[in-house]
Amino acid sequence: MNQPETLASLQASVHAPAQVTHVRLLAWVREIASLTQPDSIYWCDGSQDEYDRLCGELVKAGTFKKLNDAKRPNSYLAWSDPTDVARVEDRTFICCEKKEDAGPTNNWMAPADMRKTLTPLFTGSMRGRTMYVVPFSMGPLGSPIAHIGVELSDSPYVAVNMKIMTRMGKGALDVLGDSGEFVPCVHTVGAPILSGVKDVAWPCNKTKYIVHYPESREIWSYGSGYGGNALLGKKCFALRIASTMGKRDGWLAEHMLILGVTNPEGKKYHVAAAFPSACGKTNFAMLIPPKGFEGWKVTTIGDDIAWIKPAKDGRLYAINPEAGYFGVAPGTNEQSNANCMASLNRDVIFTNVALTDDGDVWWEGMTKVAPAHLIDWQGKDWTPQIAKETGAKAAHPNARFTVAAINNPALDDAWDDPKGVAIDAFIFGGRRATTVPLVTEARDWVEGVYMAATMGTETTAAQAGAQGVVRRDPFAMLPFAGYNMADYFAHWLSLGDKLEKSGAKLPKIFTVNWFRKDADGKFVWPGFGDNMRVMAWMLERIEGKLGGSEHAFGTTPSYADLNWNGLAFTEAQFQSVVSNDCDAWKAEMKLHDELFAQLEQGLPKALLETKAKIEARLDS
Ligand code: OXD
Ligand code: MN
Repeated sequence: MNQPETLASLQASVHAPAQVTHVRLLAWVREIASLTQPDSIYWCDGSQDEYDRLCGELVKAGTFKKLNDAKRPNSYLAWSDPTDVARVEDRTFICCEKKEDAGPTNNWMAPADMRKTLTPLFTGSMRGRTMYVVPFSMGPLGSPIAHIGVELSDSPYVAVNMKIMTRMGKGALDVLGDSGEFVPCVHTVGAPILSGVKDVAWPCNKTKYIVHYPESREIWSYGSGYGGNALLGKKCFALRIASTMGKRDGWLAEHMLILGVTNPEGKKYHVAAAFPSACGKTNFAMLIPPKGFEGWKVTTIGDDIAWIKPAKDGRLYAINPEAGYFGVAPGTNEQSNANCMASLNRDVIFTNVALTDDGDVWWEGMTKVAPAHLIDWQGKDWTPQIAKETGAKAAHPNARFTVAAINNPALDDAWDDPKGVAIDAFIFGGRRATTVPLVTEARDWVEGVYMAATMGTETTAAQAGAQGVVRRDPFAMLPFAGYNMADYFAHWLSLGDKLEKSGAKLPKIFTVNWFRKDADGKFVWPGFGDNMRVMAWMLERIEGKLGGSEHAFGTTPSYADLNWNGLAFTEAQFQSVVSNDCDAWKAEMKLHDELFAQLEQGLPKALLETKAKIEARLDS
């Protein structure tokens, strides 16, 4: 007769430490190990010793180069395979039972069909490798807003990045206990090591699948070792899966930074802001107030993702589910983001930046004058002359740094507070050379949802494909909403409605566009620290102060409404970034029509009504 399996034998079968008593977790690890057939299984404890050891192994394997300790202590550089450099949106799937639940903006396949496709790919995919068991908490350990995930990955690069990006290891296992809920995440680079074949520095597979099953809350990722494709806590869990959890349970998982801003009188506000990938979220989250704003302070809670839940007091509280920054390096410098540069002084993993001759890193835009010689992100000699002749970039445009939030000198005291911070305003920002004004305040929640839903943006290097093409990117969530975008709009509307009916004061909603260009194609607005001027106006509006004129889409400040101390910016320049060109807007509204036609099924009526009101104002 078969004896029931003991906990000890289950633990032994997957080499789990005695601390792990979660039978469902142990059984799942065993199931995935028997599918993927790794040579060994290693449970990450999240300690510094473990991190240092794994980084040492990555150096030996050729994946990491240790940077010069005297220049950049405890830091490493990885160069990826040149075909594995960004999120692959066209290989990203939402696999729910009904196609309409994924909606027209997501790639969809029926779960059973996708499983049939993936099973042969995952079978034996970890052969010759170690499977790392990476338990992690998205959000402060034990926070009522946080959730746990466990990633099984055959990439030690992923394990060390997850240590920085999440609360990873023993603490997460403790929260999980013997029966806690977790989101299972399976990741393989899809490159088993066959006998007699030497491993490569950046294993990956040209076939890629980034797959989400929202109904069973699973993530399966195949073939890529890069960023959001592989660090599954980030886009896959904290946005795609979490957005479906939020829809069901009445909260929001958003592609938003969170910052604190304190005025000279000591009053503190919290702002959450959504911008598409590589549009300056990290810079805004670490903003240093410019000349003329002495006494103001901006502090960072998060730079990429916000989980926002209504609390008993009727306010929306936000946490940053991440514990580190996976930011775009090119363009980051002492002028654009001094706090970020200070964060990068030590303990950093760089990916796809260039190596200097003295063992440090460099990227385009880091310094005004480029070094005379570098090794570029593909391991080739690079000089300014070579760049001039061939256009070769020293760093890949989507080169990244991974660094712990605690390295940030502007870190907010409440960044790790389990209860989160109460949000006073939402900001939505696209990247548009024309049409959209510097800042507009929505008249109410519904109009704010309309503006966020119809946001357009020019694509950047963060996603594979053509750059600079305008696409609708509702709420900066186009690649990240784990369900039908029309239902996502309805969720925002119904949350606002519920809160309003409960008597709560809703956060104000603003849209911004830092990126208007002049006739010569140059940015007009100085951006970066000077964005503080716009934010200060928003805070006055939150306080109910006047200032601004109403137009077809909402309220925009006049020149006199902004504090210009310390900046020479003429009224004419200001007009060129706030002006509303009626014809351009009529053309823009046609593009909104295209989006609404695409999302017709389930599109909330309130948005069509808002559109009709805007059009009537444009015509009057
Ligand atoms: C990111 C992105 O990496 O949005 O944050 O692509
Ligand atoms: Mn992002």
